[in-house]
Amino acid sequence: MSGTVILKWGGGLITRKSNLCEANYGVIDSLSEICRRFDKNLVIIHGAGSFGHLKAKKYRLAEGNIPGIDQNTGVKEVRNDMLELNSIVVKSLQNHGLSVMTYPPHKWATGTGPNFSGELPVHEGITVVYGDVVDDSEKGFGILSGDDLMFRYATELPNVKRAVFAIGGVDGILRVPPEHAKPEDLIEVWSPQMEFEGEHASDIDVTGGIGLKAARGAMIAEKGVDVLIINGEIPERVLSAINGQSVKGTRIVSGNS
Ligand code: IPE
Repeated sequence: MSGTVILKWGGGLITRKSNLCEANYGVIDSLSEICRRFDKNLVIIHGAGSFGHLKAKKYRLAEGNIPGIDQNTGVKEVRNDMLELNSIVVKSLQNHGLSVMTYPPHKWATGTGPNFSGELPVHEGITVVYGDVVDDSEKGFGILSGDDLMFRYATELPNVKRAVFAIGGVDGILRVPPEHAKPEDLIEVWSPQMEFEGEHASDIDVTGGIGLKAARGAMIAEKGVDVLIINGEIPERVLSAINGQSVKGTRIVSGNS
């Protein structure tokens, strides 16, 4: 096995986003099956969806410690909910016969954003990490998005072949909000100079929605790694994307090349 692919399982893909802590087992198993058919090392970074955003929003965890508000319960609950989602993901991969190790970020990472601190853990086989509530030296705690983990894994591990963001409900970055989009509204090649009406469900989403994926994708592309955003509900697309074959979706370029 030579080379590693970094693959995000978006939270909106693997959970039902508006129902608290409801995993989408069908999608998770179909993604595990795709990983079984892949012959390189994989780092899987999963998002939170309804296991993270709803309570993180309620307790205002992305803002860090706010004097006078009891957020400790929120920190504990979201960490536990994320451990539960993580164990659903890991069990599914293991049920497909894969060698998996998972490393909860609140145990090894501190700080938020792309410059968080901590040595990236890696397992020979499948490494699983996820967006989490981490400690922060200034704010007390904060939300480390899986998209920031994507950036660091894709740019710091040796021999990374590509980075793929598998998301739910859309085929890639769209020019207009999904409910108004026609097939020709899929942006096939996106660079940071291009505008799009990025849907960011700020009523539920405490990180950055598709806009953060696009921004981190461009930072990864700038380092010379291929980046794709694809619809993870169509398993064959995920397999083609991680294998580097042409696939429907959005290729992200840095704009400097
Ligand atoms: C968010 O992680 C983590 C929490 C809210 C605890 P992500 O930013 O990677 O999650 P998704 O993919 O948007 O759900």
